[in-house]
This record gives sequence, C-alpha cells and structure tokens, in this order.
Amino acid sequence: MVKIAPSILSADFARLGEEVRAVDEAGADYIHIDVMDGHFVPNLTFGPPIIKCIRSWTELPFDVHLMIDPAQPFLEDYAKAGADLITVHAEADVHLDRSLQFIKSLDKKAGVALNPGTSANVLEYVMDRLDLILIMSVNPGFGGQSFIPASLDKIRKVRSMIGSRDIELMVDGGVNAKTIQSVVDAGASAVVAGSAVFCGDDYRATIGELRGALK
Ligand code: DX5
Ligand code: ZN
Repeated sequence: MVKIAPSILSADFARLGEEVRAVDEAGADYIHIDVMDGHFVPNLTFGPPIIKCIRSWTELPFDVHLMIDPAQPFLEDYAKAGADLITVHAEADVHLDRSLQFIKSLDKKAGVALNPGTSANVLEYVMDRLDLILIMSVNPGFGGQSFIPASLDKIRKVRSMIGSRDIELMVDGGVNAKTIQSVVDAGASAVVAGSAVFCGDDYRATIGELRGALK
C-alpha cells in the first residue's frame, strides 16, 4: 500500500505539535518536514529547534527534506533534532556522495531529492547508498502548486533504476486525489501531500480521500 507523508508546510505553525499528532492519528506513515533556507528555494521555514520541539508529539518517522544549500554543515544538527530520514538535494552542495556517507555515519536513513529539471542520471553512482529518492513534481519552495506531468516519466525511469533495491520512491508536489493514481502507476511507493491533507479540518477524511482515489 502506498505510504502517505503529510507535509507540515501546510499545517498551522502556531499548533505544530497538535497538527503532527493529528495526522499521526489520522493514518499518516511519515511526517514530511520541509526545511527551506531562502537561498536554495525562495522561501524560509524552520530549522532544528522547531523539529526538536515537535519530536515528542509522534513516533512516526520524521522525513526531513532539506531545501538548503549548503546542507552538509547542518546534517548533524538535523540528526540530533530527531530526523529519521534526511534528504538532501542533488543540486545542493558539491559532494553528494560525501553528504550521503555522512548521513549514514550518523545512523540515519539517507535520501536524495531531484528538482523537476534534474536528470535521474545523477542517481546512478550513489544508488547503493540510498534509502529514499524524492522526485519533486513541482519546483520546490511552496505548497499548493500544480503537478508537473513530465515528472511521471522520471518516476518510471527511477523505478526501473531502483530494480530490486529496498529504496522508497517518494513523490513530492501537487499530489492530490486527481494525481495520485498516475504517480502510483508510474512506480511511487510513497507520496508527500501538503495542501491535499491540511486543506480540510478532518485529516482522517483528507488522507482517506487520497487512499480512496487509488484503485
Ligand atoms: C515543496 C515541498 C512540498 C510541499 C508539497 O517545496 O517540498 O513538500 O509542501 O505541498 P503540496 O502537496 O501542497 O504540493
Ligand atoms: Zn517536501
């Protein structure tokens, strides 16, 4: 069954702990945490202190999506704040392989995110270090954008590159009840959903709507 990772970017920041607990109780599989630095992406969110504050509100894995450049100097801070999975962008830093090795040395799961314009080929020589691949299906920076259809080809390509490896293939951006089926058909094993989950008051219903849209 496809995993659902609500993005707290669309949550009420004044009640972040309660929001995290609410999506946990509503059936989420991960908590997707979007960290933005106002440099790699044109928006700013939060960093390790806030992640640390919400850590005690759920036992679900924290899937931390770092939209920051550089990421490498801060990886340990995110590990200590409570990340279970740390995803860096292939376009950030210079030494992707070094960042992945470092995340693993911190005893955390390692992910790579690809912007819509980035080729899947950058994954080729780091594949064996990966626990997660995050295909961005919008240009990162904001919630509530429209799904970019060309992402489907990339999802299919990455699914075949993964082969029999145990790697989560997660898709992030514009996933809703209308787009989720095509994303899963292309090979995603997990989806991020920000606005689609937090748009209503009843998160069990909004997550249920996503699952219900799948055949
Ligand atoms: C975009 C973030 C996404 C975003 C998704 O930069 O990485 O995780 O919150 O939001 P929706 O699901 O609304 O497109
Ligand atoms: Zn994200």
